[in-house]
Amino acid sequence: MEKRVAVLPGDGIGPEVMAEAVRVLEVVGRRFNHTFHTEYGLIGGAAIDEKNNPLPKETIELCESSDAILLGAVGGPKWDQNPSELRPEKGLLAIRKHFDLFANLRPVAAVPSLIHASPLKEEIVKEVDMLIVRELTGGLYFGKPSRHTDQSAVDTLVYTREEIERIVDKGFELARLRKGKVTSVDKANVLESSKLWRKIVEEKKVDYPDIEVEHQLVDSAAMKLITNPSVFDVIITENMFGDILSDEASVITGSLGLLPSASVRSDGLGLYEPVHGSAPDVAGQGVANPAAAILSVAMMLKYSFGLETEAAAVEKAVNTVFEEGHFTADLAGKDQRALSTKEWTDKIVDELDLQF
Ligand code: NAI
Ligand code: MG
Repeated sequence: MEKRVAVLPGDGIGPEVMAEAVRVLEVVGRRFNHTFHTEYGLIGGAAIDEKNNPLPKETIELCESSDAILLGAVGGPKWDQNPSELRPEKGLLAIRKHFDLFANLRPVAAVPSLIHASPLKEEIVKEVDMLIVRELTGGLYFGKPSRHTDQSAVDTLVYTREEIERIVDKGFELARLRKGKVTSVDKANVLESSKLWRKIVEEKKVDYPDIEVEHQLVDSAAMKLITNPSVFDVIITENMFGDILSDEASVITGSLGLLPSASVRSDGLGLYEPVHGSAPDVAGQGVANPAAAILSVAMMLKYSFGLETEAAAVEKAVNTVFEEGHFTADLAGKDQRALSTKEWTDKIVDELDLQF
């Protein structure tokens, strides 16, 4: 297979973890006889500094001519006082919207050797393996009118049938690749948009007779997510509920440095990025945990390129390296020598070599 990958390292630890993610991608290419052409582009603060634009047109063109996009992280104190059009985060929102990346996928799974890092009890987290599928380009964050005065404010929650159908289909398709269960989360006892959402899920489930479907109200789903998270497989939900629930779910495994994400559309184009930010407090020291970035590569292999075996090999390497007790500073115990970003990735590369 031959694919073009746009790499947008961004700011802070973004370039540090992206360098290692690309190294892993190259090893996968060598091992499995694929050619991945990587080309670099500017986004976020780095792009503001060079082009006075958080998402320059050269970057959009690069992504348009690529099969998938890998992104590090954007932002940092240097740009915090900038006007809103020149903020690094603008670049991120703009790229998601430009490419109509309507489905945000966030897997959350317990890593057996890291269960101690979770603030929740071991018996609650040890079987967790879920995928949150959040609608990303509609709903309250994009509804018009949206305005405020000193005396009143309005936000609008709109969903069209088409917007709901495509995210629901995505969720069902993903459940097929996993444990075959969908939990649709809404607030159908109150919101009209949720009533339509629930109706469409009911219609769609006829097309997926192999999938178990349940509906949950968002408030009780929020509770179950930390009291009994192992009951979930795929959670499908609208933009704002998904924003809140996915951050809640991210504490289950205990470390931000572990969580990858994908934002995809139906034709396979996707943007893959770690959930964490640019971590200015540890940037430039070579100590950042590259696991989330490397697992984002695994998601890209699986969801954009259909390379399941290759993705599984990367995931397995990450789990094995943790099991062997190798950690970066964010996860290492007090008496343990923490590996640098590069040293930890060396272990992943060795492990991928060993698998064959
Ligand atoms: P953050 O995720 O950058 O950092 C939170 C804490 O976790 C810090 O103590 C950091 O050192 C640690 N951390 C995060 N990722 C790590 C990793 N891979 N290895 C080791 N430690 C890690 O969130 P924060 O501090 O709220 O934001 C910092 C900057 O990042 C801000 O400018 C923010 O706007 C931006 N940001 C960007 C995101 C993105 O590009 N998708 C997402 C979240 C924040
Ligand atoms: Mg959020």
